[in-house]
Amino acid sequence: MILVTGGAGFIGANFTLDWLSTAGEPVVNLDKLTYSGNLGNLAPIRGDRRHVFVRGDIGDRALVARLLAEHRPRAVVNFAAETHVDRSIHGPDAFVRTNVLGTFEMLEAVRAHVASLPAGERDAFRFLHVSTDEVYGSLRPGDPAFSETTPYAPNSPYSASKAASDHFVRAAFHTYGVPTLTTNCSNNYGPRQFPEKLVPLMIANALAGKPLPVYGDGRQVRDWLYVSDHCAAIRAVLERGRPGEVYNVGGNAEMQNLDVVRAICDVLSRERPGRDYASLVTFVKDRPGHDRRYAIDSTKIRREIGWQPAETFASGIAKTVHWYLDNGPWLAAIQTREYQSWISLQYETTA
Ligand SMILES: NC(=O)c1ccc[n+]([C@@H]2O[C@H](COP(=O)([O-])OP(=O)(O)OC[C@H]3O[C@@H](n4cnc5c(N)ncnc54)[C@H](O)[C@@H]3O)[C@@H](O)[C@H]2O)c1
Repeated sequence: MILVTGGAGFIGANFTLDWLSTAGEPVVNLDKLTYSGNLGNLAPIRGDRRHVFVRGDIGDRALVARLLAEHRPRAVVNFAAETHVDRSIHGPDAFVRTNVLGTFEMLEAVRAHVASLPAGERDAFRFLHVSTDEVYGSLRPGDPAFSETTPYAPNSPYSASKAASDHFVRAAFHTYGVPTLTTNCSNNYGPRQFPEKLVPLMIANALAGKPLPVYGDGRQVRDWLYVSDHCAAIRAVLERGRPGEVYNVGGNAEMQNLDVVRAICDVLSRERPGRDYASLVTFVKDRPGHDRRYAIDSTKIRREIGWQPAETFASGIAKTVHWYLDNGPWLAAIQTREYQSWISLQYETTA
């Protein structure tokens, strides 16, 4: 059995679904169900006895301790986080509470639990922390991609909070011997992503005939990875990663934001012809402190773990658009009043 946190969110839910259909080992899923947590993401495993959902906070040390004692998982995979850069600019407090303090509280519970285990179980136990390439800051064109030894230089409250959590994970290994693993991954896209992030926002707006808001000149570069490839990387690191190590995960798919939006419009034009989707692109005021370029060097995970992505950007984005087209009710259910008021705060005040 493994304990997953944040398993009702985008990547955590995809990971849980993939895990149960591949490894099959039971999952305890701890999630606070914030605005981005959605039990609808776990609909395919509703009623599956191998999945135990617990609504709660990773910052609740007593709760985490109880779950560890009760279920004795062989590993914890920590996805739970506040994740949206724009929200971190409007309100950084929640990012500090969950990403920094929450991760710290959980690590303390894990540290006590690991210390109480018999030697064999202790050696096999893993705490895998899911983090982001944003901790490394911004690259200029031509700079080498981020490697595991690139100095941290976070620029947003989101990336600063993730950087802090990574440091506490590192310290738990070096100081207390907690068998940790950290993955720093590039931008994910795919099914079940909350439609405030670039890819699902563009798909949702394009389908509704609304403007496609692109920050600044749209030339910001990100590396893109299809979510199931990220989930496979996490499974591989969990099985073959060396405790205390960090693994960068990327899709080798650097793209400008504007080209990502155009690629989505191209797929939509093929699948739902009749509208000039690209004409909906609208440039809006850039995000403050917007990082210009991220790029990931994933040589280490490819060489040491033997992982590589199965999807190209072209195949992954086509699958993604198809999923949103096939899951209209999922999208409609998520576009709640809270979502609408967020979108107007973000795009009507910055436009
Ligand atoms: N989305 C990306 O492109 C990307 C890339 C690299 C790394 N990551 C990391 O992967 C992880 C998951 O990202 P995501 O895109 O799925 O995020 P998400 O926002 O879709 O999901 C986050 C989940 O965490 C839960 N959560 C939030 N605070 C919690 C708390 N205090 N206790 C318990 N649960 C809580 C939410 O309810 C939600 O289900 C994050 O740690 C993020 O930093 C994301």
